[in-house]
Amino acid sequence: MNAHSYSSAAVESPVDRHDAATVCEQLRQLVGGEYVWSGEDPRAEPCLRDWHGDHVATALAVVMPANTEQVQSVVCYCAQQAIAVVPQGGNTGLVLGALPLGADARVIVLGLGRMNAIRDMDHDNYAITVEAGCILQTVQDAAAAQGFLFPVSLGAEGSCQIGGNISTNAGGVNVLRYGMMREQVLGLEVVLPDGSVLHNLKGLRKDNRGVDVNQLFIGAEGALGIVTAASLRLSPLPQNVVTALLALDSVHDAVQLYLQARKRCGDLMTAFELMPKNVLTLAQEALPDTTAPMSLTHSTYVLVEFSGAELVDVAGILESFLERVMEDGLLQDAVIAHTQAQAATLWRYREAVNEAQALRGLHLRSDVSVSISRMAEFVEEVHQQLQQAFPSSLVVGYGHIGDGNVHVNVLPPADYTTEQRMALIEAGGNIITECVMGFNGSFSAEHGVGRLKKSTFEHYADAAQKMLMHKLKQCVDPKNIMNPGCLLS
Ligand code: FAD
Ligand code: LAC
Ligand code: ZN
Repeated sequence: MNAHSYSSAAVESPVDRHDAATVCEQLRQLVGGEYVWSGEDPRAEPCLRDWHGDHVATALAVVMPANTEQVQSVVCYCAQQAIAVVPQGGNTGLVLGALPLGADARVIVLGLGRMNAIRDMDHDNYAITVEAGCILQTVQDAAAAQGFLFPVSLGAEGSCQIGGNISTNAGGVNVLRYGMMREQVLGLEVVLPDGSVLHNLKGLRKDNRGVDVNQLFIGAEGALGIVTAASLRLSPLPQNVVTALLALDSVHDAVQLYLQARKRCGDLMTAFELMPKNVLTLAQEALPDTTAPMSLTHSTYVLVEFSGAELVDVAGILESFLERVMEDGLLQDAVIAHTQAQAATLWRYREAVNEAQALRGLHLRSDVSVSISRMAEFVEEVHQQLQQAFPSSLVVGYGHIGDGNVHVNVLPPADYTTEQRMALIEAGGNIITECVMGFNGSFSAEHGVGRLKKSTFEHYADAAQKMLMHKLKQCVDPKNIMNPGCLLS
């Protein structure tokens, strides 16, 4: 089984230019001339390749509607013409969900980027209502400017959009305190595949009037409809935030330290990110002008953040906690950021990991989770298997270990050909998947299924789960126009 590779070349269908010109012309009448780009228009190019640049897709057009009514009219037109619709947010997804790869040639990409208004902020209700095309960072900044926190935070936050975050149920670095995107959604507005609109933008904290239909669209990867707006939960903005880089002797010790912090400091811990020595060294490849925050003499490092309200002495609590775990022999060394600039540098290392890997060219990426109690054992086992299979490659494992989620990736040597890299991606992907399933874990912790992991999903998912999901898809989208080839169809 092909677990972690997607071969686009084998299944791509050529676009019929005459058909494309007619479709573009008709779509222009719906959304305006400037906002429909043919597949060959240079403006369409960034929408037709993935973030790493590993895959390139074709489409009749990229369409950018301005509002919910225009999304409705485009969806109705596509349903009538049997044209598939691939919704696209910031196109930062890592499982090829927003790219029309392998789809029928009659497909458009529907970009939400123009729908980026903040519709409302309700202070007393701790809620914000935004259009789906709002960039995540814009929402964070708008909330912070009014003394609130929108807690979802991830490396792509400057480009990814709220609609994409909802459709992938994004995770990121603050999940251990605030939960994933699902936990932030209070209400949704969605254009359904038949062109009707679900108006469910409520900001209520409690509402048990039957099944919560919003849940159908969270993590649905655009296969059930197009999210056009969302009402989101806000939290109080913590006034005191302290960031530290901790040095330890093993992943096992890192997990033990996490468990101690949970027990002794409770909800003050907002982030706990594993970055072993080889990952910090790798990150430096994308930060040539930055000096390392400490000399890298230990095998394992953790970026930790504590935060709390004005009256909570977060720094004092973190310092006394670190003293205790150092006395216990768990913690080997620590650097605490004393300024915002120092904290930003520590976080820059975490963000640079993905950039440095992208600089290394085509490589194997994964996004797996196991129970935190088996995390250290899993990391050791999967590293050992991968290193044995690919002795000349760099095997890295980093990420959100507080959530039991690591990204275990393999970077081939520089002189590997594309064919060698593809073979490594396939064989290594199978090793990781088999290993994580052996630990009763998940082969997709936070990135989704998309097109990249569709065959893995078909292979491993519970039969009843698949049956329910396929029936749901048939019921909501009988013509199969919404993102065919992704997740469900
Ligand atoms: P896109 O990539 O455009 O789309 C993703 C999926 O959602 C596709 O299936 C698409 O069809 C669908 N979709 C998009 N918008 C809509 C809509 N309005 N209605 C219906 N369907 C829609 N992810 C994490 O979870 N945690 C991380 O820590 C993390 N870090 C990252 C770091 C980097 C450097 C990068 C490049 C990516 C990272 N990601 C992470 C992955 C990615 O950023 C998230 O999956 C993000 O939520 C995708 O948002 P997007 O707007 O880019 O969606
Ligand atoms: C991260 C992405 C890859 O955690 O999910 O950096
Ligand atoms: Zn991640």
